[in-house]
Amino acid sequence: SRSINLAVIPGDGIGQEVVAQGLKVLNSVLPQDVKLETKEYDLGAQRWHRTGETLPDAELEALKRHDAILLGAIGDPSVPSGVLERGLLLKLRFAFDHFINLRPSKLFPNTATPLAGRPEIDFVVVREGTEGPYTGNGGSLRTGTAHEVATEVSLNTAYGVERVVRDAFERAAARPRRKLTLVHKNNVLVYAGHLWKNTFDRVAAEYPSVTTDYLHVDAATIFFVTQPERFDVIVTDNLFGDILTDLAAAVSGGIGLAASGNINPTGAFPSMFEPVHGSAPDIAGQGKADPTATILSVALLLRHLGYESEAARIETAVSADLAERSADTVRTTDEIGDALALRVAG
Ligand code: IPM
Ligand code: MN
Repeated sequence: SRSINLAVIPGDGIGQEVVAQGLKVLNSVLPQDVKLETKEYDLGAQRWHRTGETLPDAELEALKRHDAILLGAIGDPSVPSGVLERGLLLKLRFAFDHFINLRPSKLFPNTATPLAGRPEIDFVVVREGTEGPYTGNGGSLRTGTAHEVATEVSLNTAYGVERVVRDAFERAAARPRRKLTLVHKNNVLVYAGHLWKNTFDRVAAEYPSVTTDYLHVDAATIFFVTQPERFDVIVTDNLFGDILTDLAAAVSGGIGLAASGNINPTGAFPSMFEPVHGSAPDIAGQGKADPTATILSVALLLRHLGYESEAARIETAVSADLAERSADTVRTTDEIGDALALRVAG
């Protein structure tokens, strides 16, 4: 019989609350014959305060043995900036070689967008997840002086670029519109830009059914706002992808709806699914957080593990739920979770 052995890292702030709703919906959507086992990991700000640890080796090893990881949010103002981001979140992405950071954007019915004319938005950003300026390849000279020099080198390898570009072409080829846009800045970042563009053009020859496009990242931000319907699949590097996906969330219903998957498509390591939003300490513990982004991340998790119909059921439920959400009844985190759990029940 089928089973899912899931690691759960609720993390900090609203992470706890939204993950509880994600698990509620997961339990509700899974057929009887699928055995769901979950193990919670106490990682994040509290753990760091208590023990000084971010992600000990023993836990990294234990996490490796799960089928997938569901993560809430990491980060707290009481912890110096970067400690948990680098020591926990990025450490997991790098250790488990999550080279695909998948971030879909869809403008659901009845949701807010600052864009005029309510355009159709249905695209997915394939953000590279293990390279770029995120590798910690940098340094500082004469630190703290008026002559400080800081470098933060963007690392791009032929291997790393090709595997994400190939994945993006596969995804584009499988979607109805079959369009892939490369976003970079090859008019200025000429070395990395050349590697990305060259790789993209070479792989494109193997996918004649996919229409391709190239945009500089600054121009892409304009089109995200003025013409988001022109995008289908976007492939880009780690930092451009980070920035673009916050913008994508802002124009398509807000950060409360943005889901993501840190994926290793080879299956060598567990993939990790998390809402794009952070720990929102200002509203933590008040039942105000929208768990929808986490619930949509559970859908990505299910799709990754081969539960396509269950994933689709969650997405349909979210769409229907949003269509019926009225502007004057504010529901709690728990109520939204309950409503979606009820809708997806088989
Ligand atoms: C994200 C976050 C992370 C990133 C931070 C918290 C390290 O902004 O998941 O988008 O930059 O990738
Ligand atoms: Mn980000």
